[in-house]
Amino acid sequence: MFNEAIELIKHSRYVIAFTGAGISAESGIPTFRGPNGLWRRFRAEDLATPEAFARNPTLVWEWYKWRMKVISRAKPNAAHLALAKMEAAGILRAVITQNVDGLHTSAGSRNVIELHGNIWRIKCSNSICNFKSMLSEPPEEIPPKCPRCGSLLRPDVVWFGEPLPPEAWEKAVTEASRADLVIVIGTSGAVMPAALIPTITKDKGGKIIEINIGGSAITPIADVFIKCRASEALPKITEGLGL
Ligand code: APR
Repeated sequence: MFNEAIELIKHSRYVIAFTGAGISAESGIPTFRGPNGLWRRFRAEDLATPEAFARNPTLVWEWYKWRMKVISRAKPNAAHLALAKMEAAGILRAVITQNVDGLHTSAGSRNVIELHGNIWRIKCSNSICNFKSMLSEPPEEIPPKCPRCGSLLRPDVVWFGEPLPPEAWEKAVTEASRADLVIVIGTSGAVMPAALIPTITKDKGGKIIEINIGGSAITPIADVFIKCRASEALPKITEGLGL
């Protein structure tokens, strides 16, 4: 299966990657739906929805502050680094990620499309005010207040029931439409519309390579399925590509 994947990459014209929480699992960041997944221990509707934030902004910020602390200790792993190497070699054109941890950018990937936002970016919860800022560490005071209008600040991530950032979504759809191969790594494919990305490539006649430790909603349409940890599989692929 590794040889099949390597040959497919070698003979493809426009290769992109689509990633989920599984690629960051080996950097110590919990996934959402696995055996120790976040949604096993917390209720998404209590923490990752606009209603939850309106009801109890302090609780939501305590959860994000905890996630920021976990992510601040995380480093890109061999899988993130392998994708950056493939991009530098001109083999990979874009990384479309559902992750908000910023590890693809830290690993050196340049064309990274963050469909669900970035946990280190905060924005004003007052839609009229367009204050945004990047944090390098969790805010001291929670919930933080907007310096411009005094409303509550919130993480600039996509919550359940919210639309994806239009410019990120459009860019991702353009890349998926242009691609003739998408490497899907570490996602359950459970959340729409993000999980449509691989099917856009497939529907245009493109191929799908999936790397996952188990099956996912994408597996039935994958042309090559590699049952393996991302940090083990991707270095094998870059080695096979002579990188
Ligand atoms: N290597 C490869 N795959 C892995 C690894 C690993 N080391 N560890 C876990 N996985 C796989 C799991 O088998 C699972 O299929 O990663 C996937 C993680 O799935 P989820 O936890 O559902 O994460 P994701 O698909 O990114 O969730 C999508 O849901 O809660 C929302 O906004 C959140 O972006 C997230 C979205």
